[in-house]
Amino acid sequence: MVRILVLHGPNLNLLGTREQSIYGTTTLDEIDTAIAQTAEGLNIEVDTRQSNMEGELVTWIQEARTGYHGIIINPAAYTHTSVAIRDALAAVALPTVEVHLSNIYQREAFRHHSYIAGVAMAQLSGFGPAGYLLALQGLLEHLLEQGTKTGGAASKPVRRTRRRKA
Ligand code: DQA
Repeated sequence: MVRILVLHGPNLNLLGTREQSIYGTTTLDEIDTAIAQTAEGLNIEVDTRQSNMEGELVTWIQEARTGYHGIIINPAAYTHTSVAIRDALAAVALPTVEVHLSNIYQREAFRHHSYIAGVAMAQLSGFGPAGYLLALQGLLEHLLEQGTKTGGAASKPVRRTRRRKA
């Protein structure tokens, strides 16, 4: 089965109350529940974790080398500051999707640069919580295309076409 690690960076534990005009009212628990439900529907195994600490995120990324096929990460403020998180993602070299709830390119100039984007296969910015669900779908498609060895479950599904009667 495809296994994906979802990481949420600093201050995302405050979603629901934090700057609601930017991030909305959905809590992180609600986002994680939606991620788990979508993952189940896609037959993906998913783990979700949040940390306010850069080093903890780096350690989790390093540990993902064994046991995960891909990473979805919202590095939050570390997006714009963290060479360490970028280096960790580059080191493990797992397909990674960077997610932001808000459109970082419509916001302050310091948010326009991402240290993560250069090592991510894709970035989703501005879809709100749906960004995580789209990331799951996109990452799964990517892994299936790559023929990732996942113990058999991640081979491209055979499309069965019904024969029309003549
Ligand atoms: C964020 C955008 C970042 O600039 C910010 O520091 C966050 C959240 C987002 O999801 O929109 O904490 O990553």
